[in-house]
Amino acid sequence: MSTPEAPGRAARGGSRRGFFRSCCRYLCGSFLATGFTALVATCVMWLLGAWRFMFPNVVIEAPTKFSAGFPEDYGAGQVDSQYIAQHGVWIVRHEYEGRPQIYALRAVCTHLGCTPTWLETEQRFKCPCHGSGFYKDGINFEGPAPRPLERYAIRIAEDGQLEVDKSRKYQEELGQWLDPECFIEVG
Ligand code: FES
Repeated sequence: MSTPEAPGRAARGGSRRGFFRSCCRYLCGSFLATGFTALVATCVMWLLGAWRFMFPNVVIEAPTKFSAGFPEDYGAGQVDSQYIAQHGVWIVRHEYEGRPQIYALRAVCTHLGCTPTWLETEQRFKCPCHGSGFYKDGINFEGPAPRPLERYAIRIAEDGQLEVDKSRKYQEELGQWLDPECFIEVG
């Protein structure tokens, strides 16, 4: 015949079992919650990766070419500043080594990169930063600029207009101004 359990001991046993059950439930719940969270995080990361793949990083750059009107728009000796603000280029019709031509001068001082100004009355380019001066053909003659201004490529496009290509530069001191890609011969 078994001895009846004392009511106090039974109650203590019941509360211990309840405590273990609560712990198990809590642990199971937290494992499930952790697993679910990890799954959701993985899915989100995968979706973000797929999104980046669909929309790769593309840098949209300004076009390097622009039209600059017809050759006959430029009179002999003219320095046209209409493309300075948008493109940083002078279109010049002048002579280089005795040959009349149209060329596109890059408006960047070869000293430290300031933008020179065309002085119509003095017929020269003058840099406001440290005083370098350049003749109409872009050759430096005063101030700290160590070399002439640069030219951009220029050609006559299919529609008959001048097309300047800023992705290609030509330096006088390297003999590159003799390259027919950087001028249009005019009569
Ligand atoms: S940047 Fe033009 S003279 Fe110095």
